[in-house]
Amino acid sequence: MSIDFNAHNQQDPDPEDGNDPTHVEGHPNGVSDDGFSDASSDVTELGSADFEAYFQERDERLFHSHGGLPYPLPVDTPEQERLKALHGIVHTVLGADFVGPVSQVLAPSPGRHQTRALDICTGTGTWVMDMASQFPHTKFNGFDIVPIATRHPLSNVQFEIHDVNEPVRWPDNTMDLVHARATDMAVSDYPAMLAEAARVLRPGGLFMSGEWERGPSFDNPTIGDTNRIPGIDRLVNVVDSLLSHKALPLVPHIPIWLDASGQFQDITIQCYSVPIGDWDPTKQVLGEKFRDVWVRYVDSLKPMLGQPGSGLDEAQINDLITGYLDNIWNVPGLVGKYHTVHAKKI
Ligand SMILES: C[S@@+](CC[C@H](N)C(=O)[O-])C[C@H]1O[C@@H](n2cnc3c(N)ncnc32)[C@H](O)[C@@H]1O
Repeated sequence: MSIDFNAHNQQDPDPEDGNDPTHVEGHPNGVSDDGFSDASSDVTELGSADFEAYFQERDERLFHSHGGLPYPLPVDTPEQERLKALHGIVHTVLGADFVGPVSQVLAPSPGRHQTRALDICTGTGTWVMDMASQFPHTKFNGFDIVPIATRHPLSNVQFEIHDVNEPVRWPDNTMDLVHARATDMAVSDYPAMLAEAARVLRPGGLFMSGEWERGPSFDNPTIGDTNRIPGIDRLVNVVDSLLSHKALPLVPHIPIWLDASGQFQDITIQCYSVPIGDWDPTKQVLGEKFRDVWVRYVDSLKPMLGQPGSGLDEAQINDLITGYLDNIWNVPGLVGKYHTVHAKKI
C-alpha cells in the first residue's frame, strides 16, 4: 500500500491546511497512454493530521518513525537543506539533472503521448520537480518513507510514502525511466530493488543511479595522500560498522548487480570528482559549497554515533568529529566522488 500526500485541492494553497481525513482515493491526474491509472485503490491519501506519525524526535532531530528500517540519518529541515545543496552540486557537475539517453526514453511517440518516470527515495522531491518542468509530457512518481516533498507538486507529479524495500505498486512494463539517487543507506537489498526496477521498466526503458562514495578521498596522489586523512578514515569506518544492515557500499557494486541480473544492457558508468574546499582555483565556489555539505554531514551523523550500542561515549564522539572536521578544513586536494550508472532494460 502506498500513501499519497499531495494536496489535491488546488484551491487550497496553504500546505498546513486542508484537514481531509485519510481516505482511499485515486489521483486526479488520470490514466496514461499505457492504460495504467493512478486512480488505484492501492493509494491512500494522507491528511494533514497524519503527517506527524511519520516522524520521530531524538537528540533534537527528526527521523523517520519506521523502527525496523535501516536509514540512520535525520529527515528534518537542516538535512533537507543539505540534500538540496547536494542536488545543486550534482546539477553543476553533470551540467544537467541526468546522464545518458534520458531525453530519448522520455520522448513522446505516436503510440505513447505520456511517458512515465519513477524516482525512488525521492527525499525533498527536488529532482522530480526539476525534471517534471523539463519533461511536461512525462508523469513523474516519487516515493520516500517520509512525506518531506512539497504537497503542491506540478500537475505531472505525484509524491507518495512507500518503503523501497517492498515491491512497488506499478504494473510490469509501465515506466520509461527509474531513477535512484543517494539511496546508499536506505536500501537493504539492492539486487532485490533492481529486480523491481526491471519489472516496472518497459523493454528499452532506462535505469539511472547516482551515488556518492561514503567519505572524501583524493584524485591526485601528488596532491593527496590517504595517510593524511586519519580523522576522515576513522569516522567513515565507524559509520560503516554502525549501519544496522551492514550494507556494502553501493558504488562499486551497482554495475556488477545490474549485469548479474541479466535484465539490463548498455551498462555505462562514470565517476565525477568534486573538490572539497577552495584548493582548486578553477572551482573555488563549488568547492566551498561542497565543503559545507560535508561539514553539515557530520551533524546528521552525530545521533547515529551516540545511538545505544555504538560503544562510543560523548568524549569519543567529540574526538571523532573533531578529527574529521580538522581533515575536511585543512587537507588540500580532497574530493568527493559521485558515481553514475545507467543501463537499458533488455
Ligand atoms: C540521502 S537522501 C536522498 C534523497 C534524494 N534521492 C536526493 O538525491 O536528494 C535518502 C532518502 O531516502 C529516504 N529513505 C530512507 N529509507 C527509506 C525507505 N526504506 N524507503 C523509502 N525511502 C527511504 C530518506 O527518507 C531520504 O529522503
